[in-house]
Amino acid sequence: MKHNKAMPLLLRTLMFGLLTLLVVVLIIDDIAEVEEETAHTGRSKKTSSQRLVPKPHTRKTPVHVDPTTQTRLSTETNHHHPPISNTTAKLPSNNWTFNKTLSNLIRKNVLRFLDPERDISILKGTLKPGDIIHYVFDRHSTTNISENLYRLLPTVSPMKNQHHRRCAIVGNSGVLLNSSCGQEIDSHDFVIRCNLAPVEEYSWDVGTRTNLVTMNPSVVQRAFQDLVSDEWRDRFLQRLQSLSGSVLWIPAFMAKGGEERVEWALRLILLHTVDVRTAFPSLRLLHAVRGYWLTNNVHIKRPTTGLLMYTMATRFCDEIHLYGFWPFALDPQGKPVKYHYYDTLKYEYTSRSSPHTMPLEFRTLNALHRQGALRLHTGTCDAETKPQKEPVA
Ligand SMILES: *[C@@H]1O[C@H](CO)[C@@H](O)[C@H](O)[C@H]1NC(C)=O
Ligand SMILES: *[C@@H]1O[C@H](CO)[C@@H](O)[C@H](O)[C@H]1NC(C)=O
Ligand SMILES: *[C@@H]1O[C@H](CO)[C@@H](O)[C@H](O)[C@H]1NC(C)=O
Ligand SMILES: *[C@@H]1O[C@H](CO)[C@@H](O)[C@H](O)[C@H]1NC(C)=O
Ligand SMILES: *[C@@H]1O[C@H](CO)[C@@H](O)[C@H](O)[C@H]1NC(C)=O
Repeated sequence: MKHNKAMPLLLRTLMFGLLTLLVVVLIIDDIAEVEEETAHTGRSKKTSSQRLVPKPHTRKTPVHVDPTTQTRLSTETNHHHPPISNTTAKLPSNNWTFNKTLSNLIRKNVLRFLDPERDISILKGTLKPGDIIHYVFDRHSTTNISENLYRLLPTVSPMKNQHHRRCAIVGNSGVLLNSSCGQEIDSHDFVIRCNLAPVEEYSWDVGTRTNLVTMNPSVVQRAFQDLVSDEWRDRFLQRLQSLSGSVLWIPAFMAKGGEERVEWALRLILLHTVDVRTAFPSLRLLHAVRGYWLTNNVHIKRPTTGLLMYTMATRFCDEIHLYGFWPFALDPQGKPVKYHYYDTLKYEYTSRSSPHTMPLEFRTLNALHRQGALRLHTGTCDAETKPQKEPVA
């Protein structure tokens, strides 16, 4: 630049402006507390150059559904990739081997965008009752931190210093029905479930062990009739009490409309001293997760609970096993698969109005499965034998 004296003023001003912008972006990037460049793989170059790309704001995204309502993935078509058809979604092969190197690399890269140990919950020290929160997806709407919510904020991360060798993340697909996977799922060191899905009645197929379970505010309405009667309130309370000791992860600040339901739940927990460890995801979590996937060229509108859980679990788990993820209306044999194993909810897999980018998520997980970074279980399990013995790299 310095030898080009003829450069028009306007152009120079423009370039200066661009440079300033770049510097600002880099500073913001640093403030975002991403871990410094660590990877020495081919991936890192791509990652660093694309780090400028992530645009965490999704204001244009239609907000129809609770952001993390869906734990399933659909076959909604996508501009950039053909959808996975029921025939091309290859069932996981039995000779899957865990690639620890790749798994470590993913953990490292995820840590550049979020620290799941921290972002899994807002901590008590950072808020006080009456503080005003802007919803992550409805920026113009706010909610106040209630006294009850404040009381239930953890003082330290519920996942502090946790490390597990084998974790299971259980999605809610009907593909789990008649899978006999309960025993196998429960054999994991840490089991994550989504949206308070019932387990007792389905334990043979889904297991019962629960170390962390998510609860979107909408669950109170959908699965527990907004606690309209004493009966529903009791059912809800019983479900909460059955969690004894596990982490109850409530995305309370994603989309407006759920504050009452959250409040009811919190009131019950306090009133009955329910033994759960409540956690409320940080306000930056979703955008950070989205940013991580963006750098890997996975352009997710809004991550599903399942993908959020996988992304966070990379921090705490070596091997991650996914059950109950099946975004298709039919199984590989062409038999219908329920959207949820426990209810009759229908999901329009091809809907373009979904806030999630489910087919892309599924392709991504499937690709990671093939590379040995995680394992997708979509078939039946051998209930008679002890936990599968998998070669660990
Ligand atoms: C693993 O299974 C796939 C498909 O079943 C097969 O193509 C591949 O050769 C197998 N690899 C090994 C190492 O056995
Ligand atoms: C494991 O993953 C790493 C990183 O992607 C790759 O270089 C390596 O070849 C993989 N190892 C196996 C056995 O697939
Ligand atoms: C929320 O905070 C605002 C501002 O402090 C206050 O005016 C309002 O009454 C609060 N609402 C509730 C429900 O506490
Ligand atoms: C599960 O097995 C039972 C008994 O064989 C059968 O009636 C039912 O239709 C099966 N359900 C699914 C979803 O395959
Ligand atoms: C795939 O789905 C189509 C309908 O979408 C069905 O006709 C076909 O039998 C399915 N194929 C398999 C292998 O299940």
